[in-house]
Amino acid sequence: MKILLAGGAGYIGSHTAVQLANAGHEVVIADNYYNSSPEAVNRIQELTGKEIPSYDVDVKDKAKVDQIMKEHKIDCVIHFAGLKAVGESVQKPIEYYRNNIDTTLTLLECMKENDVHAFVFSSSATVYGEENPAPYTETMTRGRCSNPYGWTKSMMEQILEDASKADPELSVVLLRYFNPIGAHESGRIGEDPQGIPNNLMPYIAQTAIGRREKLTIFGNDYPTPDGTCRRDYIHVMDLADGHVKAVEYACENKGTEIINLGTGTPYSVLEIVHAFEKSNGIKVNFEFGPRREGDLPEFWAESEKAEKLLGWTAKRNLEDMCRDTWNWQTKNPKGYNA
Ligand code: WQD
Repeated sequence: MKILLAGGAGYIGSHTAVQLANAGHEVVIADNYYNSSPEAVNRIQELTGKEIPSYDVDVKDKAKVDQIMKEHKIDCVIHFAGLKAVGESVQKPIEYYRNNIDTTLTLLECMKENDVHAFVFSSSATVYGEENPAPYTETMTRGRCSNPYGWTKSMMEQILEDASKADPELSVVLLRYFNPIGAHESGRIGEDPQGIPNNLMPYIAQTAIGRREKLTIFGNDYPTPDGTCRRDYIHVMDLADGHVKAVEYACENKGTEIINLGTGTPYSVLEIVHAFEKSNGIKVNFEFGPRREGDLPEFWAESEKAEKLLGWTAKRNLEDMCRDTWNWQTKNPKGYNA
């Protein structure tokens, strides 16, 4: 199959590109490199030994997206081209709504005009909101999000559901990611956050390598076993494998499916720090600080639906996630542009 990856040079997109190409699919990348690097595309080609057509385009640019779809006979689109920083979305809500919603609408319009009928969407566990108890199951209704980033994901899910209801030809798979960490085992591609990382694992890795002085653990008075928040961390290569299955499913079925991609097992922040230290034989300086606004004490996935529908389960464990993160960090101490 031929798959267009909107935002395919980013963290999850690049790993998915490798696994799709390894599974025998053809990959086309469209990315404006706003939060990613063209070097990621070079490395995808190096890892797969395949030429990957890539376009420096803003996915809101309908004429250009249309041209790509006309040039390649696309079977399925995966939409990774979203702005994703929770804190920034509070400061710049209009940019977040404009970018995330507009890219989705543009892709849907171009798909209709070019007879492309399968759409796989990068959604997030954040759409379960604040009310639903863990573990999160796909049958729960979407909840209230605590920030504009989360609302864009929730709104995009609604748009895609409505589009597939109205068009019996359109197949939509909404993949709700939990907390992706880790990197390709080669250390050639990985997460390359710009500036100070917002997320836990890149912050740990940059602290361990000496780019940050110490990690602040946001709160140790939560109602959890050790007082720190618990999340469902998933290896980005497992997530990538989940996309391969989702694309194949979307191309063979119609309607909308919501699917969690998580392991079903939560770990606390302290457990992650200690696992990183143990797996890599290195100390991570940390201190406890106040809670971060908007953080929930704990959530994790009910992961049975992915297994039943896609035949997918996460295979890599926490040690793999910690080892592969450190391998990427030590081989690319300043990311792609060092
Ligand atoms: C994990 C845990 C923090 C940094 C967010 C979005 C989600 C998804 C992934 C992205 C929490 C703690 C973190 C630090 C810490 N979106 N932490 N010190 O908040 O679960 O999910 O990112 O694209 O939609 O909401 O992930 O990695 O930021 O935090 O103690 O310096 O680590 O409090 O408990 P989160 P995270």
